[in-house]
Amino acid sequence: MRMSFHNQHIISVDQFTTEMIDSLFRLSQKMEPIVQNRKGPKPLNGYVLGNLFFEASTRSRMSFASAFYYLGGLVNSTVGMVFSSISKGETLADTIRVIQSYCDIIALRHPEIGSACEAASISRVPIINAGDGHGEHPTQALLDLYTIFLEKGTLDHLTITMVGDLRFGRTVHSLARLLCLQKGIRFKFVAPQVVQMPEDIVTEIKGKGFEVEISEDLNEAMKSSDIIYSTRIQRERFEHPKDYESIENLYILTKEKIQSLCKKDVSILHPLPRTNEIDTGVDEMSQAAYFRQAQNGLYVRMALFLLVLGRESDIQ
Ligand code: CP
Repeated sequence: MRMSFHNQHIISVDQFTTEMIDSLFRLSQKMEPIVQNRKGPKPLNGYVLGNLFFEASTRSRMSFASAFYYLGGLVNSTVGMVFSSISKGETLADTIRVIQSYCDIIALRHPEIGSACEAASISRVPIINAGDGHGEHPTQALLDLYTIFLEKGTLDHLTITMVGDLRFGRTVHSLARLLCLQKGIRFKFVAPQVVQMPEDIVTEIKGKGFEVEISEDLNEAMKSSDIIYSTRIQRERFEHPKDYESIENLYILTKEKIQSLCKKDVSILHPLPRTNEIDTGVDEMSQAAYFRQAQNGLYVRMALFLLVLGRESDIQ
């Protein structure tokens, strides 16, 4: 059976095939002119997005909303547990049962792993997982992959270093698994043991025949990397502040380090927000792709809405 986006919940990167990613990226490339010209078609006129963010977010929350607006739709938001009736003891299940009557699609960020799946089991409108605890963040992985494609011109035979908090960072979990749809990727996971990539993900990737190197040596990994995907150590997910403080300054990318160690055409990605792991001196380098990456999120989310709501044929 041909896999399709239409009316699907988007919960995990496991749902995607290379054909689906091709069609998403082809449509994403048509989104930038719609945003720039303001005069494009408005296929989501009359649709409402329920933007439910129960955990802090800037990029995902705002880019989901702006994506919907640029396509002519309306956005109905709730931000933070404290401003929703969850603070009065309402369950997520009841929240979804109610708000599915107020909107055509729901973007959900929630601190608990499995929350998007739970919402999808109840909702008659599509749920887009915008991050569930340290589980998955599939739309971030899609925009990361799109950015790699735009930066490198290919998705195959790349050496990709992921560095930082690989244990709690849901973006690296989703991206690493999504990259397994490509050919010949060499993975380098650089992190202290306490926040290394979970064993089940490493086993899954190796089981699919990919080369995986586990290391604590960023300098060595930088030399052969086509992509360096840096991530923030997620302070909020540590039980004891001391554990966080012992590793917070281990891997800091600077302009000097990149110039002296990396290939000239390396691309530096980061899902953002950053703390100190990429020095601001890197921002002026052509290799710094992380702000372009955040912008690409708008186009990928626009394309995803069109495909899930079955309105992609409105775009020429
Ligand atoms: N990358 C990302 O998910 O950023 P936000 O937490 O700001 O949405």
